[in-house]
Amino acid sequence: MQIQTDVILAPFTMFQIGGAAHYFVAAKTDADVADALSFAREKNISHFVLGGGSNILVSDQGFPGLVIHMQNDEVFWNKDDTLVVAGAGASWDAVVSEVVAKHCYGLENLSGIPGSVGGAAGGNIGAYGSEVKETLEWVEVFDTTSLSVVRLSSALCRMGYRDTLFKQREGRHLVILRVAFRLSKQGVLDRGYKDIAEYEKHHGEIVSLSAMRAAVLDIRRKKFPADGSIGTAGSFFKNPVVSRAHAALFLKKFPDAPNFPQQGGTVKLSAAWIIDHVLHMRDVREKNVGTWESQALVLVNYGGARADEVMQFAQIIIDKAKNETDVVLAPEVIAIGA
Ligand code: EPU
Repeated sequence: MQIQTDVILAPFTMFQIGGAAHYFVAAKTDADVADALSFAREKNISHFVLGGGSNILVSDQGFPGLVIHMQNDEVFWNKDDTLVVAGAGASWDAVVSEVVAKHCYGLENLSGIPGSVGGAAGGNIGAYGSEVKETLEWVEVFDTTSLSVVRLSSALCRMGYRDTLFKQREGRHLVILRVAFRLSKQGVLDRGYKDIAEYEKHHGEIVSLSAMRAAVLDIRRKKFPADGSIGTAGSFFKNPVVSRAHAALFLKKFPDAPNFPQQGGTVKLSAAWIIDHVLHMRDVREKNVGTWESQALVLVNYGGARADEVMQFAQIIIDKAKNETDVVLAPEVIAIGA
């Protein structure tokens, strides 16, 4: 294990923003993770686990502790191809691609999402009607309190909409090492999401796993910045989940707003719709930062943006949304450093 100092983090993030990590280590094995954590403990500094850098905004001042960059990217299959186990540092989409190529159902609608397997499980990523939690079998973690490797069943991971144990205070001492996904050789394609149905109108019915993957990749290419020169962390905000009474008031004022009743009596509203149709802030640019032209929920760095510029721009959206709709938007992107 080699510890580097003063490593600029911007190139490790998809936003292409951020100052230096005081200490930085690439972790290829469980032992590397354990050694890195002991180093941080000895120095009495905090650590941050970096995956694909696709959902974080790193401070311009950088991170004063140790960044552990997960590079354990091994992928194993069980004998009958119903369980795939991938290292936290594996590329999420490389795993999805392999799963689809083996004709296994379960991850196809999650094609094309940037980032790592650890990030995918830690954030319960979701798209086009599917979420990681639906196929998650277990997560193996390094417990920084007991200094041991522990396997957590899916139920223990408290997976909810863009939320998991690993994002909560009770899970902060756990470092995801590898993740197992339960797949199925026989399955039904989920073609219900609006964008998928729209795609089928132009391209015909999606009848295979590979066609579903191709469709999702095509939809994503049109919705999100495809050119690598534009930095982004995808959806900057979560879709707000409000009480039924709150939703009723909101919908009285905005009857056309998309709304999705959830289990337990809450209602999920669309942050993108609010930003676009109420705030009229889709494709709005403020110096180096803006909302993306085809997805208002996506903030972009047109080049040279600082983290504080992004935060200020996000705060304008939060304040306007609160004033005009009484809905509070919360970032889904995780802020790192001061
Ligand atoms: N809409 C607008 N304006 C826009 C974009 C969307 O009015 O600029 C409307 C759409 O017409 C639709 C609704 O808002 O009625 C929802 O839009 P969309 O289907 O694009 O999904 P989303 O809720 O905005 C979520 C995820 C995305 C994921 C898409 C597709 C969150 C925070 N985001 O976005 O995930 O790709 O669904 O399934 O839940 C990410 O997390 O980084 C991400 C990209």
